Amino acid sequence: MVMDADHLCSIIRCTVLIVAAVMAHSTSAELCPDFYDKMCPKALATIKMVVEQAVAREPRMGASLLRLHFHDCFVNGCDGSILLDDLPGFTGEKTAVPNINSLRRFEVVDQIKAAVDYVCYGTVVSCADILAVAARDSVVALGGQSYQVLLGRRDARTASVGAANKNLPPPFLDFPALLSNFHSHGLSLEDLVILSGAHTIGLARCTTFRNRIYNDTNIHPAFAASLRMQCPPSPPVGDDNTTPLDRTTAHFDKVYFDDLLHQEGLLHSDQQLFKGDGSASDGLVRYYSANPKAFLADFGVSMIKMGNMKPLTGSEGEIRMNCRKVNS
Ligand code: HEM
Ligand SMILES: *[C@@H]1O[C@H](CO)[C@@H](O)[C@H](O)[C@H]1NC(C)=O
Repeated sequence: MVMDADHLCSIIRCTVLIVAAVMAHSTSAELCPDFYDKMCPKALATIKMVVEQAVAREPRMGASLLRLHFHDCFVNGCDGSILLDDLPGFTGEKTAVPNINSLRRFEVVDQIKAAVDYVCYGTVVSCADILAVAARDSVVALGGQSYQVLLGRRDARTASVGAANKNLPPPFLDFPALLSNFHSHGLSLEDLVILSGAHTIGLARCTTFRNRIYNDTNIHPAFAASLRMQCPPSPPVGDDNTTPLDRTTAHFDKVYFDDLLHQEGLLHSDQQLFKGDGSASDGLVRYYSANPKAFLADFGVSMIKMGNMKPLTGSEGEIRMNCRKVNS
């Protein structure tokens, strides 16, 4: 195989970065933006096309795909573990409390995988990378700003329902617990506020915000009253009724932060970011509400940071043939 300078360059650059990461005792080897450029030049355009078609069918698809990448990364790193189905003798992460009856659109990931394997003449792109790219393309399809996704993740051969239950933040957490959850993943206060801005798109089920609309005091009274109409107080009645996470649920914009300023955050965890107490978190919410462009740009920076969490690289893991099960 003849290697042109470009390819060699990208291999050397990736390798140097990996060696540097190991020497610095970094927990994550480095990923590269051009990982598939030579192996499968059509890979990224193909993912984008399938995501755009899905989002055109139903805008919420973009939200659901973005959330899959988040729930993948927060459980032992961005390794595609979220996609593994349960089998006799194997428990995946799909039945964990934050995931069950909640994560959706695994079939779109299957569609992307089939389309990518077709244009790559085989299994080249990892399922973990598909999630990272689909998340970015979803953000863009709904009006957000593009960013360069780093690539080269490989897929896990394991999953952990225990880690999914422990490491994903539940919506009833107060601010200190939210922050310590993000710190435990190597993410900052800024990342917490910015990435929570993902709630500018998508919906949530009544069961995830019921306690807030009946019991919280930092909620706009008319907003709470209207939500109570859609989310009755006694479970399980209405548990699965869905409500937009912000006023412009199909648009990736800064309106989520406007809503928090008006005490119209849907989840308890959302409103914890703005309590009107002059905290640093309050300041960030005000800043992004006032600076829409800064939110769109900073979101990409924090997504890249989240996407760098403990990827499998080099000869670790595998490139799965079917995103739902490990290679046999
Ligand atoms: C800060 C802590 C977070 C908490 C407590 C949280 C919690 C939740 C909950 C409870 C839902 C509704 C689930 C349901 O109805 O079943 C939801 C939806 C969603 N979350 Fe988060 N989330 C957090 C951070 C994030 C992050 C970091 C992202 C992405 C970067 C994200 C993206 C989304 C999206 C896009 C949806 C809508 C999904 C859809 O409509 O299918 N969330 N989140
Ligand atoms: C409100 O809080 C009380 C006391 O914690 C709890 O028992 C009740 O279930 C909550 N109400 C709703 C609708 O969640």
